[in-house]
Amino acid sequence: MISAKGLFYSTANTMRLLQTCDQDLPLVVQLYGCDPEIMSRAVSTLYAEGFRYFDLNCGCSVKKVVKTGAGAALLKDPGLLLKMVSVMADRAGPGRVGVKMRLGWNIEQLVYLDLAAPLAEAGAGWITLHPRTAVQQFTGQAAWQALKNLKEITLIPVVASGDLFTAGNALDCVRQTGVDTVMFARGALMDPAIGMRYQNLLQGRADLPRNQEFTLRLCMEAIETYRRHASSRAVLKLRTLLPRMIRGLPGAKDLRKRIILCRQWAELEEVMTSAREHLEKE
Ligand SMILES: Cc1cc2nc3c(=O)[nH]c(=O)nc-3n(C[C@H](O)[C@H](O)[C@H](O)COP(=O)(O)O)c2cc1C
Repeated sequence: MISAKGLFYSTANTMRLLQTCDQDLPLVVQLYGCDPEIMSRAVSTLYAEGFRYFDLNCGCSVKKVVKTGAGAALLKDPGLLLKMVSVMADRAGPGRVGVKMRLGWNIEQLVYLDLAAPLAEAGAGWITLHPRTAVQQFTGQAAWQALKNLKEITLIPVVASGDLFTAGNALDCVRQTGVDTVMFARGALMDPAIGMRYQNLLQGRADLPRNQEFTLRLCMEAIETYRRHASSRAVLKLRTLLPRMIRGLPGAKDLRKRIILCRQWAELEEVMTSAREHLEKE
């Protein structure tokens, strides 16, 4: 998620978040903002940089974002939201702009169904729905029934988000609601292979392993990728990410204790390498 304003001012953090690699093609970026002029310029700039699909964030309920009028706050101003989509679609072309939204700001103001047709008319090529309100944040259960309701009244693709913690959850959600596809979030933080597992499940192929060896390999890949593409501060991020990935494995508690003490890449790699060697000896 990139701030359109941050891009306008080329802030260091925004430029860092925009880093890509060949595996990311075709390039898709999610933007947040509430100024149509700045958003329009952001799409043009990014298009020139090779980005081809653009998602407007209308779902983020974090205070820092909503207090600026962006993210889920746009759900309180449908006129502005439609204007944003329209200027983005003008710049990006048909089928290239999506909207990521929640049900509405709060339970008294559910707007997702009323917005479906105007969004499509304004040029939205798909809608991703996280079926909770902004006020709910992450509490309670995602209301998958709302995904079904939305899918029934719109012709543009609907992407499901919300409580998809496993590939099986995603398949259940697609079957129950008829949505076109899914977006993983917390599930991918716990298991970065969740997308591949989902593809395998859809196509009737065998699941990827769920053992220590496979997970430790994923952890090593995560460390390598972060080390290559992120700043040294990313060690701190991995100290929260890796424990989520190893949760439930034998020896996870001890390994977690060692991971959260790491301050440098070398320490992190050593801890994970010794975990792997230990495993090989067993
Ligand atoms: C750590 C974290 C970061 C997120 N960042 C974004 C984001 O940048 N853009 C976005 O549209 N949603 C973001 N989300 C929300 C997710 O896309 C998703 O809608 C939400 O987590 C519900 O799905 P889940 O229950 O399967 O996690 C984030 C969620 C989490 C937990």
